[in-house]
Amino acid sequence: MYLTILTLHSFFRWVVLLGILTGIFRASRGLLGRLPFTPLDNTIRHTTATLAHVQLILGYGLYLVSPLLASFHLRDAEHEPTALFFGVQHVALMTIAITVLTIGSALAKRQATDQAKFRTMAGWFALALLIILVAIPWPFSPFAQRPLIRL
Ligand code: HEM
Repeated sequence: MYLTILTLHSFFRWVVLLGILTGIFRASRGLLGRLPFTPLDNTIRHTTATLAHVQLILGYGLYLVSPLLASFHLRDAEHEPTALFFGVQHVALMTIAITVLTIGSALAKRQATDQAKFRTMAGWFALALLIILVAIPWPFSPFAQRPLIRL
């Protein structure tokens, strides 16, 4: 159970990153080229937010079953920097990032003009991407290191 969720959560990072990057690309292209906001743009906006929510659910599931966090207590946190990262910083930053993405997606949908939709989507998605990139435990991260792919 734990390994299945961990592997899915690890893989899903790439799906979420691809979705956000595609969203930023389409929004920037639409903004710079003054293009209409097409049904494809809307699908990318909506699908990216949905994929991020799937990752959020996998993340909370992992939080509940992870042996790393099973015996983690905040008062001993300084002795367990990896557990502190996954139990506090990773969870908090990723939850904030997905909230930012969700707000951006909802606001973009409600804008009156196509250019405003693109501008809103580009800005909020870029902010979410920045937070996610900081909070991912890349092999080169200063906070915690995990593999790029887990098979
Ligand atoms: C876009 C959102 C997120 C991304 C991209 C992401 C990415 C990752 C990655 C790449 C790992 C390392 C996996 C591995 O060891 O192979 C990880 C671990 C973990 N994530 Fe996330 N995560 C996200 C959101 C969340 C959320 C919202 C939570 C909890 C509420 C969460 C909880 C965890 C936990 C507990 C671990 C460590 C599990 C362990 O080593 O036992 N993640 N995450």
